[in-house]
Amino acid sequence: MVERIPVAVLGATGSVGQRFVQLLEGHPWFELAAVTGSERRVGKEFGKTCHWIVQERMPDSAKSLVVQETVPEGLDVPLVFSALPSGVAKQKESLFASAGMVVCSNAGAFRQEPDVPILLPEVNPDHAHLVDVQRRLRGWEGCITTNPNCTSTGVTIALKALQDSCGLSKVFAVSLQAISGAGYPGVPSLDILDNVIPHISNEEPKFEWEPRKMLGSFEGEEIALADFLMSTHCNRVAVSDGHLVCMSVETRDPITVAEAAQILGSYAPPEAGFGLPSTPEPVIFVSSDPDRPQPRLDRMTGKGMTTVVGRVREDSIFGLKFVVLSHNTIRGAAGGSIYNAELLRREGLLGI
Ligand SMILES: NC(=O)c1ccc[n+]([C@@H]2O[C@H](COP(=O)([O-])OP(=O)(O)OC[C@H]3O[C@@H](n4cnc5c(N)ncnc54)[C@H](OP(=O)(O)O)[C@@H]3O)[C@@H](O)[C@H]2O)c1
Repeated sequence: MVERIPVAVLGATGSVGQRFVQLLEGHPWFELAAVTGSERRVGKEFGKTCHWIVQERMPDSAKSLVVQETVPEGLDVPLVFSALPSGVAKQKESLFASAGMVVCSNAGAFRQEPDVPILLPEVNPDHAHLVDVQRRLRGWEGCITTNPNCTSTGVTIALKALQDSCGLSKVFAVSLQAISGAGYPGVPSLDILDNVIPHISNEEPKFEWEPRKMLGSFEGEEIALADFLMSTHCNRVAVSDGHLVCMSVETRDPITVAEAAQILGSYAPPEAGFGLPSTPEPVIFVSSDPDRPQPRLDRMTGKGMTTVVGRVREDSIFGLKFVVLSHNTIRGAAGGSIYNAELLRREGLLGI
């Protein structure tokens, strides 16, 4: 058996950190060697201090890991997965990169930096090589890569299929976002039960910008943003996992509903993002049922890595409309980050 690469999860006790711990169990290339947490957890056994909220059981191998301080010293791993809150990530992630480690981050802290890629291997695997620029500019042996905000994830994958075939000119999107997207303990139950909250702090600017970076072109030194307009509304709803987004899209070239459904359903990733352990199968599933996708029924399609699209139909203003569902803590967070690390390894960017 090939020796697996030891990895650490930073912020392993949170909503996304726990997903990493669960998904890394039995991974063919990576082995969970260390977990870190906030000060109150340091020195305690993961199995005792972590309030486990993932449906699958906590892996036995993780239970006895002792939570370490979130610093590079003492972590003998080449790769770390970060599930830190954005403010903490801003201070900490560069310490790991400058200590020579590759950071695959879920946080928004570095996504807007021109030399940091936001990666979706099904969409823009070529952007991974932006880390060569980052290493040169910052003098780091390690690097920081990010995955997008969980709401942008499925939406960008669907938009990529359309962009390739008929171009994009305008996108209007309304999200219905699951509670787990706010971390643990997240939104108080008395606020969210029997309710919809039509505001998620700082979410709309991210949702309107990140897809344009990921769908932009990598010109060797930097990424030129994709040239389309995007307007969004973000809402928190009383669903545990799975972000649903209702979208209207104006394409540059005209397209029929039947053509759009065919393009979305047959989308294949660029070669570099294909055939990795976490490549979704299929990348996009298009449902023809009139009342799907639904978070509870469809979020685990393709082990939670597939983007589910439904209700593809004509829009009287934009031309085309449809609904996108993506599992926020799997495809939109930990699963996506692991998929990114697989891509970095394939591209020879892990430095080992
Ligand atoms: N939830 C999602 O669906 C989702 C999707 C995509 C991206 N993200 C991003 O992923 C990151 C993690 O999100 P989350 O939902 O998992 O948040 P969370 O549930 O609040 O977890 C945060 C984790 O960071 C730890 N932490 C907090 N302050 C720390 C400090 N000063 N030093 C070290 N560790 C510290 C927490 O430890 P304690 O347990 O001790 O508090 C916990 O393990 C965020 O940047 C978020 O924006 C989340």
